[in-house]
Amino acid sequence: MKSRYKSYKTVEDLPKLAGETVTLRGWVYKKTGKGKLQFIQLRYGTGIAQCVVFKNNVTEEAFAKAKALTQESSLTVTGKVVASGKAPGGYEIDAAGLEIIHISQDYPISAKEHGDSFLIEHRHLWLRSARQHAIMRVRAVIIKAIRDFFDASGFKLMDSPILTPNACEGTSTLFETKYFDLGKAYLSQSGQLYAEASAMALGKVYTFGPVFRAERSKTRKHLTEFWMVEPEMAFFDLDDDMDLAEDLVEYIVECALRSCQKEFAVLQRDISALERIKRPFYRISYSEAVEWLQKNKVPIIRKIDGRDVESPFPWGEDFGTVQEEALMEQFDKPCIIHRYPAAVKAFYMKRDPADDKLSLAMDMLGPEKAGEIIGGSQREDDYDTMLERIKEDKLDEADFKWFLDLRKYGSVPHSGFGLGVERVVKWITGAKHIRETIPMPRMIHRIIP
Ligand code: 4AD
Ligand code: MG
Repeated sequence: MKSRYKSYKTVEDLPKLAGETVTLRGWVYKKTGKGKLQFIQLRYGTGIAQCVVFKNNVTEEAFAKAKALTQESSLTVTGKVVASGKAPGGYEIDAAGLEIIHISQDYPISAKEHGDSFLIEHRHLWLRSARQHAIMRVRAVIIKAIRDFFDASGFKLMDSPILTPNACEGTSTLFETKYFDLGKAYLSQSGQLYAEASAMALGKVYTFGPVFRAERSKTRKHLTEFWMVEPEMAFFDLDDDMDLAEDLVEYIVECALRSCQKEFAVLQRDISALERIKRPFYRISYSEAVEWLQKNKVPIIRKIDGRDVESPFPWGEDFGTVQEEALMEQFDKPCIIHRYPAAVKAFYMKRDPADDKLSLAMDMLGPEKAGEIIGGSQREDDYDTMLERIKEDKLDEADFKWFLDLRKYGSVPHSGFGLGVERVVKWITGAKHIRETIPMPRMIHRIIP
């Protein structure tokens, strides 16, 4: 696309420009050199280019400027693009001119190891590091893949509101805010309930936005603000829902493999593990999973009087990280676990007609300790049953009147799921903590920067 605003040549363009003279703009990632040579690794969003400043090829003033450059100073460099086996990316700039835009003073992040808390406090600068760049670029590819997947398969984007009057995923993890004369509002935990209304209007829809959980979980997989994509489909049953979830995840991985080879190299990601992510994935029922845990002596650990007490895993409990990771060790592809006990799942899920103790729920767990990347279900579509569930959960009926209307005027079977973007980015990039998968992570103990 031809743009009217300034368009600069970037590191990515270099292979096409061999032999030509270009001007690059960017920041100093690293600098080395002695005597008559200065090597500048110039950083721009798309990568790093090595610029060689040889004293005899530039003015005295330009050479002095090159020597004065510090880490993260901004500059422009003009020079010829030459192929070089030694340069990262295979091309370097033979500098003929150089201008300083701004000298950075005492940049706090250096090549030495910094502690996690130091880096996260400096998240606004940490984003400039090569690994963080790479993760953010993979994130952008994953988000584009998700949108492309749905846009190309007849889904309409129908965004749900963020300010809501009620809970979707349990009342214990709600962020509350004052709302004019109407009392309280809550930050949305999920766009699902509104996506259901949208699906009744447009058939197949998806909502994609930030959601909020006032969750006390301090793990490598929990954020208090994260991005979720939630498709919702009229006339889909649980099997259709699971098929769609597999198709989506397979497509995301395929796009990442196609577009992110450079990023995976920076991240030293073992891509053979990703190349295996082809349908069919694994599917087991909750009851089969429990049998496996019992047979393989994976216990449940409960805190009793401040002590950890182990016992055989009982049918009816929800899985935690210990059980999920143990179960997934046998699989090199994602596995969907379906038909959970209704007691551990949300009020809106339809019960299994074959067994009322079960919900038509499904969670997709990723391999390589990715944990739960998708949660979804077939929805309860009967008015009276839904009303009963709302009462059982002690939810305010008045807030859900509109939701019940969906079961009153042409109710149809319908299903959907939510995929947590950061969980998927973490799995695909191999990032060790979810805080590295979103530009500005929000966690219990962190709101700055
Ligand atoms: O399983 P969850 O809670 O499901 C829902 O919210 C449904 N209403 C979705 C639907 O059916 N439309 O969340 C869905 C996904 C999880 O599988 C996980 O990937 C991610 O959202 N997730 C989190 N990601 C980061 N931090 C947290 N605290 C998360 N909680 C859930
Ligand atoms: Mg879940």
